[in-house]
Amino acid sequence: MQREGSLLCKSSPFCERTKKMGETLLLVGLQWGDEGKGKVIDALCDSYQVVVRFQGGANAGHTVHIGDEEYVLHLVPTGILRPEVQCIVGNGVVVDPGGVLKEIRDLQARGITVADNLALSDRAHVVLPHHKALDVAREKHRGVARIGTTGSGIGPCYADKATRSGIRLGDMLDADLFHERLTALMDVHNEALVKIYGAEPLDTEAVYREYRAYAEELRPFVRDTVPLVHDALNNGSNILLEGAQGSLLDLDFGTYPFVTSSEVIAGAAPGAGLPPARVDRVIGLAKAYCSRVGAGPFPTEQDNDIGETIRQTIEVAGGREYGATTGRQRRTGWLDAVALGYTARLAGVSSIAVSVLDVLSAFETIKVCTGYRLDGRMLDAFPSNARVLAQVEPVYEEFEGWQCDITSAKAWDDLPPQAHDYLRAMEGFAGARVEFVSVGPERTQLIERGADD
Ligand code: GDP
Ligand code: IMO
Ligand code: MG
Repeated sequence: MQREGSLLCKSSPFCERTKKMGETLLLVGLQWGDEGKGKVIDALCDSYQVVVRFQGGANAGHTVHIGDEEYVLHLVPTGILRPEVQCIVGNGVVVDPGGVLKEIRDLQARGITVADNLALSDRAHVVLPHHKALDVAREKHRGVARIGTTGSGIGPCYADKATRSGIRLGDMLDADLFHERLTALMDVHNEALVKIYGAEPLDTEAVYREYRAYAEELRPFVRDTVPLVHDALNNGSNILLEGAQGSLLDLDFGTYPFVTSSEVIAGAAPGAGLPPARVDRVIGLAKAYCSRVGAGPFPTEQDNDIGETIRQTIEVAGGREYGATTGRQRRTGWLDAVALGYTARLAGVSSIAVSVLDVLSAFETIKVCTGYRLDGRMLDAFPSNARVLAQVEPVYEEFEGWQCDITSAKAWDDLPPQAHDYLRAMEGFAGARVEFVSVGPERTQLIERGADD
């Protein structure tokens, strides 16, 4: 069944599940981001009436391939590619007004409907130019200890939110209030920019004029999204919570300080305006290998031919191991099963989805890190300290590769036995069943595993 006006592929395996079941599903990345969330969410959201982003900001880059078209979503929920889906940018997100307007215009120019199918929470905090300037200045100041942020102002914006000096989208709609709060905020941050970081101050009045213009353009989209989400709950809609970043970038549980500034795992319900107990199911998404962009420990990194083979193989398949937001080359390496077990437990996954399995077709032997050794002893838990993680020696288990093209596999049984073994091992590491397997970047290249497979 394909609904009229839908951009959907003709053969989505999920079409029969479009009826309302009153399910709230969280899809969360289990690694360092870029697990292929955009691709999987796009396929899943054919069965969901509402898609909500609940944390992060324009640091996210979620890629969807539909035929020859590629879409990269940063702030707008991935559900926007289906006109019948209500998309919500929740209160937990930090919104770059100029960025989201550009994204809306670009989507509209490509024939995508962006109207009342998109709502931005009036409680969402606004990313302002001084946030970006501070992000860049602090990174410079950190020198070799830099985090490698996306430079989108995420950390400084969440910091203003936490110190209760931030500005919310709703505040921007009130000219006087906005002026008053912006002046107070920028006075303090300009001083820091100049005196601490030796950077140029920003012109408060110019920022005010520019952002007031954005506010008026965004006005039709800005609403109290809590009633919207609760109406959806009450009328039995299926709600998909679109995670951004990944669990190892979580502010609390990630490789601190080499993390982002939001709650990637626990932020789902509060960031969407939902009661925590109303999240019914959690799908954790993991790559069949690992990637990371930015600095920080990465025990299984292969800064060698193996890493390069991964980057080249994904390109051939139409995907990319270059940041969808910054264009930076991603670091690549073998699957880290210690980290996967840790994040799958933290997220309480009901099942897992595995992406980029096709990329591993390039290898005769596939390695998986199943333990960490430190000073001759095996660690029994994922270390909470990034310095310790940086020192561990990964202990690998080897798996036989399948070395054949799996990009046209449509069902579990189409995959070779070695791939089944690998996926079964992944479910052992994660402690949860593999429910979906992605074998290419295209919307249709997703296998939903049957109950008997
Ligand atoms: P996200 O941030 O989690 O949505 O992931 P990104 O979009 O930043 O990065 C994932 C990259 O892998 C993109 O270039 C996708 O098009 C691509 N991709 C996603 N799933 C697959 C897959 O199963 N196989 C291949 N070859 N590429 C994939
Ligand atoms: P998606 O949603 C991968 C990384 C940055 C940096 C760290 C902090 O596409 O998976 P920030 O700008 O958030 O302060 O940067 O987090 N990072 C991501 N890495 N995918 C993302 O999002 C990321 N968002 C932030 O590279 O290491
Ligand atoms: Mg990404």
